[in-house]
Amino acid sequence: MDSAAESIIFIIGAPGSGKGTLCKRLAEEYGFSHLSVGDLLRDVTSSSNTDVTIIDTVKSGELVPVEVLAPMLKGRVDKGKEDGQMKILLDGFPRRLDQAAPVERLLRSPTLVLFFDCPEQIAEKRFLTRMLTGREADDEQTFRKRYQEFSRLNPSIVEHYRTRGIVLEIDTSGETEVSYQRLISALKGTGAWRSLAALM
Ligand code: AP5
Repeated sequence: MDSAAESIIFIIGAPGSGKGTLCKRLAEEYGFSHLSVGDLLRDVTSSSNTDVTIIDTVKSGELVPVEVLAPMLKGRVDKGKEDGQMKILLDGFPRRLDQAAPVERLLRSPTLVLFFDCPEQIAEKRFLTRMLTGREADDEQTFRKRYQEFSRLNPSIVEHYRTRGIVLEIDTSGETEVSYQRLISALKGTGAWRSLAALM
């Protein structure tokens, strides 16, 4: 199979667990390309050509069907590869176990899966505070819905990748700097880090 990028890291965690915040910093400091599935879908839904059912799905906090999502991800990763992006943080993927196989077939298997572990109360507080910064639909009801879905679906994803020995669980309940240092030290403890750091 022709791999679309040299390395892909999947990032999973509750809404407000710090996926976007920590990925952004990791991308800036270590040259990863940061592909947020939520941002990709928000971009697509702001286009006037987009199917209204996709727009409604994202607004409601439901998951976009994988048949729709997988080709979008492939397109974005292939474009990134043309631009020389060889190591990708895929933020917010997978959300359900049955999303994983179709996307892995199109892209490649993940080098690592980072699970950002953060208690619900802390995640909720962050999520609602961000509302003040203006992301549409970030209210308490949306948080509850997304959090319930996350709690229901995430354990089987973690278990699946644990059996492959590629899950890194990071405690992201602390301040951003603390969480980031935990992330970096966990990454540097993996066998994959040297080759990841070498990839430009
Ligand atoms: P998405 O945008 O991925 O939303 P989410 O998972 O709910 O994640 P968030 O972006 O809300 O949280 P985050 O963990 O990134 O937290 P952040 O760093 O911003 O998905 C949106 C929608 O798209 C979904 O509902 C679905 O419809 C669709 N979708 C997405 N993925 C999909 C998929 N795979 N399949 C199908 N559909 C999909 O932090 C939040 C706030 O907290 C920020 O203000 C930040 O400054 C602050 N903060 C973060 N970390 C810390 C810290 N350590 N200390 C203090 N403050 C912190």
